[in-house]
Amino acid sequence: MPNQPYSPGRFLFGGDYNPEQWSRETWAEDIALMRRAKVNTATIGVFSWAELEPREGEYDAAWLDEVIENLHSAGIGFFLATPTASPPPWFTVAHPDALPVRPDGTRVLHGSRDTYAISAPAYREAARRVATFLAERYGSHPGLRGWHIHNEYGTVDHGPHAARAFREWLERKYGTLERLNAAWYTAFWSQRYGAWDEILPPMQTQYLHNPAHLVDFKRFCSDEMLAAFTEQKEAIRATGSSAPITTNFMLPTWNHLDQWSWSDAQDIVSIDHYLDTTGPDGEAHVAYGSDLTRSWAGGPWVLMEQSATGIRVGDRQLTKSPDRMIRNSLAYIARGSQSSLFFQWRASAAGSEVWHGAMVPHAGADSAAFEAVVRLGDILERIGEVADPPADGVVLDAGIGIVWDAEGWWSLETPHLPTDAITYRDEVRAAHRALWRGGYATDFVRPGADASRYRLLVVPALYAMTRETARWLESYVESGGHLVVTFASGLADQDQRVVADGYPGMLRGLLGVRSEQISPLAEDDAVELSNGWRAGTWTEQLRLESASAVVRYETGAMAGLPAVTRRDLGRGSATYVSAKLTQTSLDAFIAESAVAAGIEPVVAGAAASEVEAVRRRGAGADYLFLLNHGTRPVRAQGAGVDLITGAEDVLELGAGAVAVIRESRGGWTISS
Ligand code: GLA
Repeated sequence: MPNQPYSPGRFLFGGDYNPEQWSRETWAEDIALMRRAKVNTATIGVFSWAELEPREGEYDAAWLDEVIENLHSAGIGFFLATPTASPPPWFTVAHPDALPVRPDGTRVLHGSRDTYAISAPAYREAARRVATFLAERYGSHPGLRGWHIHNEYGTVDHGPHAARAFREWLERKYGTLERLNAAWYTAFWSQRYGAWDEILPPMQTQYLHNPAHLVDFKRFCSDEMLAAFTEQKEAIRATGSSAPITTNFMLPTWNHLDQWSWSDAQDIVSIDHYLDTTGPDGEAHVAYGSDLTRSWAGGPWVLMEQSATGIRVGDRQLTKSPDRMIRNSLAYIARGSQSSLFFQWRASAAGSEVWHGAMVPHAGADSAAFEAVVRLGDILERIGEVADPPADGVVLDAGIGIVWDAEGWWSLETPHLPTDAITYRDEVRAAHRALWRGGYATDFVRPGADASRYRLLVVPALYAMTRETARWLESYVESGGHLVVTFASGLADQDQRVVADGYPGMLRGLLGVRSEQISPLAEDDAVELSNGWRAGTWTEQLRLESASAVVRYETGAMAGLPAVTRRDLGRGSATYVSAKLTQTSLDAFIAESAVAAGIEPVVAGAAASEVEAVRRRGAGADYLFLLNHGTRPVRAQGAGVDLITGAEDVLELGAGAVAVIRESRGGWTISS
């Protein structure tokens, strides 16, 4: 995690600004509108490589000088991106070997963006060069808020450069081919490697891939992209620029990076977050993205992109209402964001993302969308004091942790598991959603981290884990923690090798159960449990060893056998859920687990009134965010002042409305 809590002294407001697509008249209007909306931050240069370096080694930054001057003289700061996510056509013509290759061997050509092979020396060299050019020119500009290296690392290459770098990575990891062959279990299917050069990235092949090979390639890609990021970071630092550095992670669907180790290399952890539904679950999704990022950051973070007006669902661009845009923006901030930044400032007139939402829509400033942007700018100014974090950087005081591990995602996506109908992301989200619905403050936790602040630790579907992780969970329980492990966890080690002598091998002793048989259910099949809960997809034939049954299977082949078990260990406990509960049943189970661990929701009863209550810690006070996601007004009572309206102690909160209360003390109540 970054060394210091990120504290820009205000909330950053603005977004990606791509003026290279507009005329000078529009530039002047942009600045006027930014001032009207109290925009204070623009992210520039994200995809400007062709403008900046129109021919190899020939730079033209006069236009960027002008953009920066326009912003700076209007008092608007900027994140300066290195443009390396989109090499220009001249680059790929000169270096065709630096284009990425897909698993089927086809080379991706330019004509879009992100057409680079991360391990190609020509690409790495060109990326360092352009980063150095920008840093020498703007690295000490007073308006520079920070460096935004690249954009959303995640382009995977399977070509010859990747193959070479992958082999080098493997050689560093295993030392000898014997060790690699053992770890990859190559005795099966005649896969034994006799020379390093025989090893390829996981290309398209005849049937199932080797799972250990797949997971090692994911690890390699994350490390390789991190090395490319680090080179740019070092190139910038070598010029003497000391502005904070970040790269924007892409949520929620990308899984290319081990975000914990990447976060260690950032000064600011930042993400791009796009909702995947217009429905109420979008609110839970905002909380999920925010809690993850705050946890990676170990404190405040930056929302680098969201959409102002649209939600892309499948093949259509649905509408994000102005109301929702404001509520979501404050929800990110409630959970530690230091910003409300958007992609992009002005809707493009043409080009690949012409229908993407923007702060200034096609209709222009005379629009409800832009009015909402102006209103948000005003709100962010009113609540500015909240941006000042406490000295320890802990902006949310959470008593519950969910273990997050990118390797868990990678291992659960290897093919041909007992069922391939489960995904890590969905299981983690289901656990987080249940906690969100109960109104609990939740962190995500890195395996091996100090978990002593959490009275409840949830481990969803962590299929593969190391012995160290298993021991870490044991010591958490031994020191009085309450652990909940859900199905499909602890089955394999870091080489994807199943732990023998009964499931869930790694955690058998800790959970006090042994299962001989995992019995996935057919798609349309479901079982009932003895307390009325329902489950599908995954069941297990559990035998109790040192645990006792809390809930049993009521129907189906496992009827009468334990479904949920608990083992008490001193003051701590270890609970195992052997089936995939429906979301409603999981909600009930998680709420019971929180109560049993003695944890209170942030504001009792708020969730039942469809109000999301989040307490953000500040330098001088605590701030209670109340977000009314419901369709009815509610009344909140307590001691404090709403920084948005100035109302004190008794607040009427209309449907969709938000309050940010500087608390005099806790103890707020919500009534309908
Ligand atoms: C990403 C990119 C942006 C834009 C948006 C569209 O987050 O960083 O350039 O393409 O997606 O949602």
